[in-house]
Amino acid sequence: MTTMPTTTPPAIGRPLDRVDGRPKVTGGARYSAEIPLPDMAYAHVVGSRIAAGRVSGIDASAATAEEGVLAVLTHENLPRIAEQPPLVPSLAGTAAPGQTYFPMQDDIVHYAGQQIALVVADTWERAQHAARLLRVSYEETAPVTTLDQGRDRAYVPERIFGGWIPGRIERGDVETGLRDADVRVEGTYTYAANNHNPIEPAGTTAHWDGDTLLLYDSTQGVNATQMTVSRLLGVPMSRIRVIGHYVGGSFGCKAMIHAHPALAAMAARQVGRPVKLALTREQMFTSVGHREEQEQHVTLGATREGRLTAVRHHKLSPTSHFDDWAEPSVGVSSQIYACPHYEGVYRLFRADTMTPTFMRAPGEATGMHALECAMDELAHELGVDPVELRLRNHTDVDAMSGFPWSSSGLRECYERGARRFGWAGRDPRPAMRREGDWLIGTGMATAAYPVPPLANPQRARARLYADGTAVVQAATPDFGTGVATVMTQVAADGLGMSVERCRFENGDTDLPNIAAAVGSAGAGMISAAVHSAATALRGQLINKAVADAGSPLHGADPVDVVVRDGVMTAGTASEAYTDLLRRNFRPDAEALGQWNPPAHDIPYGMMTFGAQFAEVAVDAELGLVRVRRMTGAFAPGRVLNAKTARSQLMGGMLWGLGQALLEANHMAPDTGRWVNSSLAEYLVAVNADAPDVDVELIEVEDDIVNPLGVKGVGEIGQVGVAAAIANAVHHATGRRVRKLPITIEDLL
Ligand code: MOS
Repeated sequence: MTTMPTTTPPAIGRPLDRVDGRPKVTGGARYSAEIPLPDMAYAHVVGSRIAAGRVSGIDASAATAEEGVLAVLTHENLPRIAEQPPLVPSLAGTAAPGQTYFPMQDDIVHYAGQQIALVVADTWERAQHAARLLRVSYEETAPVTTLDQGRDRAYVPERIFGGWIPGRIERGDVETGLRDADVRVEGTYTYAANNHNPIEPAGTTAHWDGDTLLLYDSTQGVNATQMTVSRLLGVPMSRIRVIGHYVGGSFGCKAMIHAHPALAAMAARQVGRPVKLALTREQMFTSVGHREEQEQHVTLGATREGRLTAVRHHKLSPTSHFDDWAEPSVGVSSQIYACPHYEGVYRLFRADTMTPTFMRAPGEATGMHALECAMDELAHELGVDPVELRLRNHTDVDAMSGFPWSSSGLRECYERGARRFGWAGRDPRPAMRREGDWLIGTGMATAAYPVPPLANPQRARARLYADGTAVVQAATPDFGTGVATVMTQVAADGLGMSVERCRFENGDTDLPNIAAAVGSAGAGMISAAVHSAATALRGQLINKAVADAGSPLHGADPVDVVVRDGVMTAGTASEAYTDLLRRNFRPDAEALGQWNPPAHDIPYGMMTFGAQFAEVAVDAELGLVRVRRMTGAFAPGRVLNAKTARSQLMGGMLWGLGQALLEANHMAPDTGRWVNSSLAEYLVAVNADAPDVDVELIEVEDDIVNPLGVKGVGEIGQVGVAAAIANAVHHATGRRVRKLPITIEDLL
């Protein structure tokens, strides 16, 4: 049992409005590229036109002659970096560069859009204008960027994903499993590359004061920016402060620390003025990673009764010349169904692209699509209801490690999701329902997302002032998830105070260290640290009161003391925190809290589960797909705030809709350049695309993952949506489309 802090009613779980909602919607919030500093200069990045080859010359004479131009930095004059840190996921609490390549150190071009020059001027407009006057010449070689160009040279990497995931995962013998099968289904699934489009493009403002650097950075982890820039520039961490008070979304593109914060710092040092470097929307497609184009091949073997005997899951994708990166699409497919034989393999090929990166539900968004579409085919083949097929293969243990789940709730997700959606009595035959021009179908899929492993301790600080207000602090930024709001609730319950008297302060490396909020780990790790700090402070104050001869609580047993609205009570005796502090001439009291995450080898599988249901209408003549409604039921452990959790999950489900039907970028095979690098051509779901989205939260208790049992809601909402929609399209039309996004052409 997890123990809840003593307050009535507890703040945790309540649908509190966002504490930063008002400044965000009234323009009061200042983002990293909006910090006004005196004497500011502006850096504009120039990206390579070619994807492969070298820069043979840059004539900057016209640009430097322009009024207001302060510097033109290229590979010829940009200082060399001190050190290239290795690529490690930022969750690890180390330096976390987005790739192990830093631009403008030599004349080689590895991908289109790679930074080849930085123009610094006294206004943003002059910097952009001067950038257009650069005369760049190239020696170009033929690029390799697409699956078709690279598949013949693929290799199986030792490890992927910053070293966290092996390139091959096996148990049993998949060939035996397939031989034992009565039924097999097999399919190749292809996925367009995806780009992140948070409303705030990435950007950094850099300001040197002597040899001390202040960075305002749009990041998921201020400490990750601090550590990465420290290593790249050879500046001690103690001389770098990173602030990210407001971050306007990310979806993973600000999870790793790409080149621009260090470039902004280098430019600022060069011109001796603060420098603002804001990426344009177009540069967002070439500067902060992407979800790679990929192909997956899934083979399932099953008995006539629908029990899996084998799962084979292979993936092929391009990576950069420097890093073995693939999002871990294979992995969850090894864990969530009982099955004796499994084989998962990643194949990579070197391409003229930047290193791909985290993108919302990194891996599972695509991997669970392939697996869950294959499960739907198997259900169809066997004549078993799709929900029933999942239940027949349900496992109470992690099928890969054999360890029990720390908590599950998956059966309840199927059951309650199906009930809310109205799944029962579905006619399984495809292409049977028609309403005018529209063919109607329904589909479902399992959702699963791992609770990511953490190694490093997470810290927070709680301070109570003698006036009865409290501030709780941790370094983490809030990049739109609502973490500042929910941590106010966690702090209030931990202290035994009302939320109105508690404030959460965050987004600053001067505050206690928290790893970057990545992989749905934010709510769990930050709540653990905040809870620890707040309860430590409460304990300190209780101990002080019972030991204080002047306190009405003197002599009481500390375990008998409960705290509500800042008043400590034991039996009939009580004293307010404020009275205790004032009587003792204490202006405040403070405690540091630390949470040490569970060791990686604990004997539990840690996974967040859900179930997705979708209804689509497909225009029989035009091939147009409309999603009419979606239901998602999720078991994310404890819900810290019913409103922000629902909002995260709904956003994830709508992202899944975009993945299914809209989001795609493509490489032009001849130039190696992205084709759809604007929001006019890279389509994301808008209100007109959005159907009714029904979100069901199923709270399950989990005393393994972290003190409050929080498994996170950042990614699970997206997982399985695209499969539920693709399965619904099959149900509507009888057509299996094994690619994403599903477009009109696929259904004509
Ligand atoms: Mo999330 S895609 O791990 O930032």
